[in-house]
Amino acid sequence: MFNSRERSLLLCLSLLAAAGTAADAAEPGHYGYGVKATPEQLAGWDIDARGDDGVGLPAGQGTVQKGSEVFADQCAACHGTFGEGEGRFPKLAGGMGTLRDDRPEPTVGSYWPFAPTLWDYINRAMPMPAPHTLSADDVYALTAYILNLNDIVPNEFVADRNSLPKVKMPNHDSFTWTDPRPDTMAKPCMSACADPADIKIMSTAEGRNLTPRTTGPLDTMQPK
Ligand code: HEC
Repeated sequence: MFNSRERSLLLCLSLLAAAGTAADAAEPGHYGYGVKATPEQLAGWDIDARGDDGVGLPAGQGTVQKGSEVFADQCAACHGTFGEGEGRFPKLAGGMGTLRDDRPEPTVGSYWPFAPTLWDYINRAMPMPAPHTLSADDVYALTAYILNLNDIVPNEFVADRNSLPKVKMPNHDSFTWTDPRPDTMAKPCMSACADPADIKIMSTAEGRNLTPRTTGPLDTMQPK
């Protein structure tokens, strides 16, 4: 009666119909697919810690000493015991003052603007073979250790959600936070502005001979 392709199509259709009915019954007026993410599922994705003020950093803390132990265990194979980098794996320390050299060495110490970003990066991306597997305390300890390797914090420094945003990174001031170039040369007017009816167009790009001709062979294209 039905060949096998028709049979599987029928099966799919009846499965879809069944699924549709179940979901429709649960949430009338919706398309009938997907489920609401639970707060726990959202929390699993919502892991960012903001660089400049550390908003999003979790509870927990870690010392330089503890960080040196976790680092030796989990990180040194690639980044070297003191962050010097094994082979072509990135250096995490040093390179101060090299950013304008022919061969700049951007590292956490010489380049990064914010300490909370170091916590965020290690937490989400390292150790490379098993990202996001470290406890918050271990990430704090590793952050303290890497900052200490770069002589940015003392040996007794304890990293936590309060101390990290206060760390001043050496290259912080080399970042430009607002682009000083205006989008236009026009001054924005916020109050008592000109009446639009009084605004007249005084000149145009075309009128000032700035618009190239757009017809004719390209190689003879000249301003009009
Ligand atoms: C298997 C090798 C490997 C291991 C183990 C590893 N990393 Fe990395 N790490 C990398 C590589 C490769 C990069 C560069 C990734 C990129 O640029 O996308 C990196 C980048 C980094 C950076 C950013 C460097 C920069 O200036 O851009 C930090 C910080 C870092 N790793 C910390 C750690 C810490 C802490 C651990 C231990 C928990 C760790 N890594 C373990 C390979 C590794």
